[in-house]
Amino acid sequence: MAVSGIILVIFVTGHLVGNLQIFAHPDKINGYAHFLQSLGPALWVVRLTLLACVVVHVWAAVTLAVENNQARGPEKYGVNRWLAAAFASRYMKHTGIVVGAFIIYHIAQFTVGYGGTPFKTSLDEYHMTQAFNLFGVPIVAQGAAVHDVYSMVYLGFSSACVSIFYVVAIGLLSLHLWHGADAMFQTLGVRNHKWACCLRRAVGIFSLVYFLGSIVIPGAILTGLAKPAAGTAAAAGCGACCAPAKPAATPNAHR
Ligand code: HEM
Repeated sequence: MAVSGIILVIFVTGHLVGNLQIFAHPDKINGYAHFLQSLGPALWVVRLTLLACVVVHVWAAVTLAVENNQARGPEKYGVNRWLAAAFASRYMKHTGIVVGAFIIYHIAQFTVGYGGTPFKTSLDEYHMTQAFNLFGVPIVAQGAAVHDVYSMVYLGFSSACVSIFYVVAIGLLSLHLWHGADAMFQTLGVRNHKWACCLRRAVGIFSLVYFLGSIVIPGAILTGLAKPAAGTAAAAGCGACCAPAKPAATPNAHR
């Protein structure tokens, strides 16, 4: 559970850093997303590794819950009262289930393009105004047509329901991270009397920074604090996302 947890924490942190490019020029996040898509088989290796981590994580959680119940035996507690368990630790099952449901919705919305609005088919491609370089290495050429992830995120979060769902789900994910990362240090044997307090504080600060860094994206877009760049589909308004999916291009008939 701890090892799969570490990999998932690394993923969500890296994903957040990448997503914060939404506040920069559209070339940035669109070039970055295009780079990830162009990784081809390597992208699938990452996807399958993440999927394996989620499966192992859930399997370990279920096994733990079953063992916990068996240890108690058939007789239920007469009185349920929390004595020392931290708030986040009491609801790991519940927060985990909501985060799981959120991930399914999120992938349907942004990766597959099926979360209510057909972003993948209704948005025109974006043409890079500048070349996109990563650590000085040219990745996407100026003028290249790429998927318009920038507008997709702006248009996605212009819906209050979607943004509020994200804020709630990310809040629960941050609670899950808070206790999960703390427990992970214990499982791996890193936590001792000397370090326990510092580690708990560090994990608390990390979870808070993660929460604020993540909710700033739907929050700033929904409230209009962040405005889409002029000339993008997002700046043109919801017309782009509400339009029906474009029909496949029909070839010219030969005369
Ligand atoms: C404000 C928060 C978030 C934003 C703006 C965001 C944005 C995105 C976007 C735009 C994509 C699709 C990229 C593409 O198709 O090129 C994506 C994919 C994904 N996101 Fe997020 N995300 C957020 C939070 C999260 C969280 C909290 C998780 C996990 C708990 C997550 C997990 C994923 C996964 C697993 C994918 C699929 C990656 C793939 O293509 O294989 N995201 N996200």
